[in-house]
Amino acid sequence: MQKIIIAIDGLAATGKSTQAKKLASYLGYRYIDSGAMYRAITFFALQNNWCQDTNNCDEKALIAALPNVQLDFLPDATGKSVLHLNGTNIDNEIRSMAVSKWVSTIAAIPEVRTFLVAQQRAISAQKAIVMDGRDIGTVVFPDAELKFFFTARPEIRAQRRFEELQAIDPDITFQQVLENVVERDQKDSNRKTSPLIKASDAIEIDVSDQNVSAVFQLLLRYLPTNQ
Ligand code: DC
Repeated sequence: MQKIIIAIDGLAATGKSTQAKKLASYLGYRYIDSGAMYRAITFFALQNNWCQDTNNCDEKALIAALPNVQLDFLPDATGKSVLHLNGTNIDNEIRSMAVSKWVSTIAAIPEVRTFLVAQQRAISAQKAIVMDGRDIGTVVFPDAELKFFFTARPEIRAQRRFEELQAIDPDITFQQVLENVVERDQKDSNRKTSPLIKASDAIEIDVSDQNVSAVFQLLLRYLPTNQ
């Protein structure tokens, strides 16, 4: 069977990672969460107090420190792939609202993107990858054999993310999550470097009124017949 690259891009909290994981497991492929990598760099910047209460972080300090950042996806005790920053499991920390608040600012820094795109390409050298993110079909793998672009109404996306986040942050409100999701889309879509846009050859899927299983069945219909 010919190994391919599948790119899933789209708006925040549209269930990209859920579907990417399901597709990867169905095909026996590796799943890479590129958003987790941007979240890890953001966590690293926050740990070092490089982001203050404005829209700006100390980009110079962060860029200078990038060579000291080692990111690895490693299996945990249950076999789930979790992101490690310099040897430490940061899977829960990167989902916090603090990271969500700053991640679009960090993801707009061109040097951060160059650093992470190189790693995303290196991980995928053997193909057989499902990667989700914002620029996978446009910049990271413009030649990916199969590209999807997910959209959904903001309230539906915020509700989904709110339910997930309550487990790690019981004080969180729906309104906070809705504002974060809308603000991130706005920043991600309007940044100069690699903005969130649909690749011209991506298949657009509105997941607003479909459950996980219905979306998955739809994706399967687009798989090349030799998969
Ligand atoms: O997929 P996510 O919501 O966890 O991603 C977090 C942020 O990272 C998102 O708001 C924008 C950024 N991101 C990006 O700029 N490019 C990617 N390929 C993936 C994520």
